[in-house]
Amino acid sequence: MQCHTTGYDANPTAVNGGFDDYPFEFPAQLGPGVWDQLVQQFPEAMAMARIQCESCHGPGGNHLGQTGNNAIVTNLDAETCGYCHDQGSHHVFPQQWDISVHATGPNVGYAGGRAGCANRHSGSGFVEWIKGGQQPLAAAPSPIPITCATCHDPHDATNHAQLRLVSATLTNGYVVNLGNEGRLCITCHKARRDAVDYTNNYLRNLSSHFGPHYSGQGDVLVGKNAVTWGYNVPTSPHLQAIDNACVGCHMGPGPLDEETQKAYTQVGIHLL
Ligand code: HEC
Ligand code: HEC
Ligand code: HEC
Ligand code: HEC
Ligand code: HEC
Repeated sequence: MQCHTTGYDANPTAVNGGFDDYPFEFPAQLGPGVWDQLVQQFPEAMAMARIQCESCHGPGGNHLGQTGNNAIVTNLDAETCGYCHDQGSHHVFPQQWDISVHATGPNVGYAGGRAGCANRHSGSGFVEWIKGGQQPLAAAPSPIPITCATCHDPHDATNHAQLRLVSATLTNGYVVNLGNEGRLCITCHKARRDAVDYTNNYLRNLSSHFGPHYSGQGDVLVGKNAVTWGYNVPTSPHLQAIDNACVGCHMGPGPLDEETQKAYTQVGIHLL
């Protein structure tokens, strides 16, 4: 109930107008039509059912009508989501994420703090870059790891799993039209230069950062943005063969949970 409703706090001294502060009886049987019945029977409690603004932003009573104060919280920390999604045996994404390089990345502080790199190396930079119409950032916001709300948009269910982005363009302008969800990964995991231009004009481009940047998996998988010296180099069929490209391999489903027959503990999912 704590995770599927708003303001739930069973402590009797916490009278916050949350779900548990109103009459409610859990139905003996779940099924079609039960929700509508509950709305009729327990209208006050049901108004606080499901995940609402305050589930993530904190109590907003003092914020109402006072947009100038800080009486509400907005942050991208994994804890905002882990409060519900970290539930031991079935919901293990936060535990997996905790030990992933997206969480522990050594480059967050360095590259994430630089305006030119923050849109890839910092969760806050990536979100700001998307909100700003994918234009170069003028300054880097405080760097944070690649958290849940970097990849997931808490306010938009357009894409599967509320992914923030399912499109990608390589740095040479090539628009990736296969790979579905994997294009979220490619947006960050791609070369930072137009390879042909960079190679042909290398004298103009010399700097202390000269040379290929690591993590060009997107370009390799798509088979574009490479110098081929005039040869026609064949590309592996993995982009066509694997649903969701990067996600298909790196977040592949594991064995089903015996009780629920769902693949909750997907091998690799969120262990990136
Ligand atoms: C699942 C958690 C979650 C829920 C539910 C949620 N938000 Fe958010 N909200 C966030 C996070 C995380 C951010 C910061 C990242 C972002 O802006 O996408 C945010 C950002 C915001 C912002 C700042 C946007 C900006 O550009 O600065 C506003 C305003 C906001 N939310 C309002 C709402 C309202 C109103 C609701 C309910 C209708 C709501 N949120 C529901 C998690 C949530
Ligand atoms: C108050 C508890 C709560 C919080 C906080 C919360 N979630 Fe959820 N989330 C849920 C529940 C419950 C579901 C399942 C809803 C359902 O299927 O009825 C869910 C579903 C999801 C889904 C699956 C959507 C789908 O398409 O299957 C994603 C992705 C998700 N949450 C991401 C987030 C992120 C990112 C945050 C933090 C910004 C967050 N959640 C914060 C409770 C929460
Ligand atoms: C917002 C940009 C961003 C997105 C989106 C993103 N990544 Fe990453 N990823 C990074 C960065 C930056 C690092 C390296 C962090 C560091 O070293 O500080 C990384 C690290 C990794 C690593 C570990 C590499 C190692 O050295 O061990 C894997 C694997 C990975 N990402 C796969 C993926 C996959 C698969 C997706 C899509 C589901 C994805 N990434 C989405 C930015 C991103
Ligand atoms: C690097 C990007 C990335 C990060 C970081 C990330 N996710 Fe995801 N998440 C994904 C992708 C991609 C999928 C879709 C996987 C698929 O389709 O198999 C997904 C799926 C999900 C789902 C839906 C699973 C389902 O079976 O429908 C939930 C819930 C979720 N993530 C929660 C979280 C939480 C909580 C965190 C933080 C602890 C988090 N994610 C961090 C990329 C990410
Ligand atoms: C056909 C399955 C497959 C696809 C598709 C795939 N990968 Fe991988 N990836 C792997 C395997 C397996 C490894 C481990 C290779 C090794 O350890 O030698 C790996 C390694 C990596 C690493 C290095 C991890 C480390 O610890 O050094 C990164 C980063 C990465 N992949 C990201 C991506 C991205 C981004 C995409 C999409 C553009 C992608 N991968 C697509 C299977 C795949």
